[in-house]
Amino acid sequence: MTAEFTTIANIIQNRRTVKAFMMNGQKAPNAHVAALLELADWAPTHGYTEPWRFTVYETPAEFCVAHANLYKDNTAGSEFAEGVYNNLRAQGDKASHVIIATMKRGNLPKIPAFEEKAAVSCAIQNILLGATALNMASFWSTGGMALKPAMKEFLGLDDEDQVMGILYLGYSDEHPAGKRTVPLAEKVKWH
Ligand SMILES: Cc1cc2nc3c(=O)[nH]c(=O)nc-3n(C[C@H](O)[C@H](O)[C@H](O)COP(=O)(O)O)c2cc1C
Repeated sequence: MTAEFTTIANIIQNRRTVKAFMMNGQKAPNAHVAALLELADWAPTHGYTEPWRFTVYETPAEFCVAHANLYKDNTAGSEFAEGVYNNLRAQGDKASHVIIATMKRGNLPKIPAFEEKAAVSCAIQNILLGATALNMASFWSTGGMALKPAMKEFLGLDDEDQVMGILYLGYSDEHPAGKRTVPLAEKVKWH
């Protein structure tokens, strides 16, 4: 093993989902977030479609208020829950930045949509790992309105594009313990 392996293994294993409400309100320099986006841009990409796109909010409340309003405006009165609205509105209050990661579907016939989603997922993981290396907390969410047509419209996406996640970035005083519930040996067939 190399020193580089040990370094990256520590980062990969120490990355934990830290939900936005567990963050502590500390702000990250925009330059750090820009550096994370540079890492995202080095994700693998079949056919160089480079399908990752990011919408960055350096003031999370700006997105969260819009997110809550999307919920309100697109939820039938009988289904609307004030608690959900309030949670969405306050979700980023202790985060530093919100990044919405989307997949821009390309037009190369040999590249199926799943490969473009896979590439964006790799780009997202680059952000999460980079954040871990900067002692930042991160939360990849597909909750709330993230996967609803109203969010696509809000972001100006085309039909074939896909919202891949709402990433909350910040700092936290807590570091949840990680767990995996299925032994690796059950996930691997080694011939
Ligand atoms: C595509 C994707 C979407 C996710 N969406 C949510 C979500 O909406 N809400 C949530 O609590 N966690 C979400 N997560 C985070 C997982 O819950 C988390 O990764 C899992 O609990 C394992 O914890 P760890 O990331 O600390 O290893 C998502 C993860 C992925 C990969």
